Amino acid sequence: MQVILKNEPLSAISAELTVLFLTKESLETSEYKEKLSKTGFKAEQDEFCILHESALAVCGIEGYDAASLRSAAAAVITKVKTFNYSSLKVAQYFLNNVAALVEGFVMGGYSFRMYKSKPKPVALKEVIFSNDNFNSDAFDFKTLEKDFNDALIVATATNFTRELVNTTPQDLTPATMTVIAEDLASDNGLDCYILDENALEEEKMEAILAVGRASAHPPRLIHLAYKPKNAEKCVTLVGKGLTYDSGGLSLKPATSMVTMKMDKAGACAVLGMMKAVSELKLPVEVHGFIGTAENMIDGSSYKPDDVLKARNGTTIEVRNTDAEGRLVLADVLSYAQDKVKSDYLFDYATLTGACMVALGPYTTGMMGHSDQLKHDLFKATSDSGELLGTLPFNDHLKKLIKSDIADVCNIGSKPYGGAITAALFLDHFITEEMKQKWMHFDIAGPAYTESPWDVYEHGATGAGVRMTVKFLYSLIEK
Ligand code: BES
Ligand code: ZN
Ligand code: ZN
Repeated sequence: MQVILKNEPLSAISAELTVLFLTKESLETSEYKEKLSKTGFKAEQDEFCILHESALAVCGIEGYDAASLRSAAAAVITKVKTFNYSSLKVAQYFLNNVAALVEGFVMGGYSFRMYKSKPKPVALKEVIFSNDNFNSDAFDFKTLEKDFNDALIVATATNFTRELVNTTPQDLTPATMTVIAEDLASDNGLDCYILDENALEEEKMEAILAVGRASAHPPRLIHLAYKPKNAEKCVTLVGKGLTYDSGGLSLKPATSMVTMKMDKAGACAVLGMMKAVSELKLPVEVHGFIGTAENMIDGSSYKPDDVLKARNGTTIEVRNTDAEGRLVLADVLSYAQDKVKSDYLFDYATLTGACMVALGPYTTGMMGHSDQLKHDLFKATSDSGELLGTLPFNDHLKKLIKSDIADVCNIGSKPYGGAITAALFLDHFITEEMKQKWMHFDIAGPAYTESPWDVYEHGATGAGVRMTVKFLYSLIEK
């Protein structure tokens, strides 16, 4: 399915179906009011109605804001894909909401079909955006075109992340992850460095090696770099890439293990971000570091009671092998900070079930030392379509990860505040210089969904990609 923009009024574009978004008020004055009221249409948010004889796909919206239009566009595309129309056209809606509409159509139009032996054919081939405003005064085309193209890049990169996260653990192993990164690097002109097991040993990365030791698919560290000549800032992005998390010897219950292919969502989000920034040609140097491993069981498994020495020399008492993501991140964060001196250090991880308990399944948990940086992130990402919430550090929670025999313990001694104690564990691997520049994003909730919401069908959502790109934009606007 193609999404394109034309510098033409809606009436001049030929398409089989026209989209009309209506608020409750605009329904009252609509020329289709009578026809629509016969169907029972009330213009509730995301309420869809198709008038075949008028070649019209109508959807209710609460208002002309980004969130309402994004969600409604997704509702339209999901429904229209079930009919036999091959093309769809849509006007702009008042404020410059083209990005929200593009996200709605592109992300709402995504469906994961890799493993269907007979995927249902989709008739819809084209979604055409007109330059027309809804009440028909045209936008400045150059500005609109740039916003449209940028939004298309970001939404496509988000779908790329979703496709990777949805791919099964037998098909996406740490070795496959390196191939995907190398392919992305060669397609998009990125530098790419891979550390295999031997290199991880040389780097004394005992933590990531221990997590991956019982797997038939050994761990890897991936470093991608986007270095534009005109870079004004430098940002490091780190992703947790557990291609499967069985829990290890602290085995997950059967029902919790299902969906754990999503434990690579942080890594896949970093890949999507690298794809987006390089295609947007942002004047920001961006480094992506991924630690990828599979947490499995065999005679060589790492164990509760083991003590691991991480790359930065910190010793870790393992009390639960299912708290493996923080071990992988410990080594990767230490490596990333030594390799690149950056202005910001962000990590993305499906790290804790506790984060979902705290914030619900839709919101990313943001944790770090700098209130200013949290404020800047909130401001820059408010209309990104992603939800952010903060969880606060305190010195009492810090004590819960003290170890009697090593420097730090990989789980808290109390069953509360688990998202925060996980972040405080990561803090042991952040250098003094980077403390105020670091932010941890726990995406365990929003990275994957088992029931559709907003622009997401069942499965991966690409959490992290859109909000991070928004933040990167804010750096160049400053
Ligand atoms: N990958 C999981 C976290 C997770 C849980 C992500 C559910 C998405 C959905 C992580 O490795 C994990 O198992 N964390 C444990 C930590 C505990 C052992 C301290 C958890 O959250 O239960
Ligand atoms: Zn785990
Ligand atoms: Zn995990």
